[in-house]
Amino acid sequence: MKQQLQKYETRTNQVLTQILNTQSHSPLYEALSYATLNPGKRLRPALIYAFAEAFKCPLEKVDSLAAAIELIHSYSLVHDDLPAMDDDDLRRGRPTCHIQFDEATAILVGDAQLTLAFAVISNDHHLNAEQKVSAIQILSAASGSLGMIAGQMIDIQSEGQLTSLENLKRMHLLKTGELIKAACLLGALLLDNDLERHTKIGLFGETIGLAFQVQDDILDIESTTETLGKPQGSDEKLSKSTYPKLMGLKQAKVYRDQLITEAQNLLLDLNLNSPFLMDLTHYIAQRQH
Ligand code: IPE
Ligand code: IPE
Ligand code: MG
Ligand code: MG
Ligand code: MG
Repeated sequence: MKQQLQKYETRTNQVLTQILNTQSHSPLYEALSYATLNPGKRLRPALIYAFAEAFKCPLEKVDSLAAAIELIHSYSLVHDDLPAMDDDDLRRGRPTCHIQFDEATAILVGDAQLTLAFAVISNDHHLNAEQKVSAIQILSAASGSLGMIAGQMIDIQSEGQLTSLENLKRMHLLKTGELIKAACLLGALLLDNDLERHTKIGLFGETIGLAFQVQDDILDIESTTETLGKPQGSDEKLSKSTYPKLMGLKQAKVYRDQLITEAQNLLLDLNLNSPFLMDLTHYIAQRQH
């Protein structure tokens, strides 16, 4: 699995580099490259590529979608780290964008990454107009004010208080699950028109997205800053509502593992015959950073 993940990561980085090259005359170029071309895990592009391969779709057809989702994810991290939000100074093993540059630059870099994501899809000659509109619909809904941004807002509003489990689940599904679900749906978009299967793929995406954030919360407690490449203990510092905080570390792990089993069953049910996706689902719970 590691080899295939590496293959997707390399491909994503190549596509992102090409895209960034088109921005070389922008005054934001240096900061934009810094916040985009770095050792992120590129998990969301990997999901797009894996679903595309499962549906026998040539990878070049989804390159722009993979780059776009990573640009949106990277933007969300640049803004998530700002002093007004989580106020963190390390990301992907490097100083965060606002530390390396300054706050105004980091805000603008995020704005530029988000906008660039949609430009990249609109300009892609591998996709027809209908496919572009569908992709933009999926991505804008997942990342917008009823998706990821809603989750980020609930996260900020829940600081310093113990929220309900129900609210926590909603927050996790929105702030992290929506984009991961979008990755799965985008990978299947070009070759699969089966509505029932789409619903199942969406459910699979939500489930691994939720598990991914539960593990993120666990790692914030159990890992180290060095391994994570971001500050350990960031959630505690701001009294965030997290699964370990609400149910205890042990129960949070049980919940995470339940979600992984649920997701693997959904995958079996989808009958995609993708050992990679099966292993990737397992990796989400076992990852150390
Ligand atoms: C971190 O995402 C933020 C969450 C949504 C939990 P990743 O763990 O995918 O971060 P990178 O892209 O590898 O840096
Ligand atoms: C981040 O959640 C979710 C988004 C950026 C949308 P976290 O705040 O837990 O992510 P990390 O731990 O800083 O990577
Ligand atoms: Mg946050
Ligand atoms: Mg954060
Ligand atoms: Mg976190």
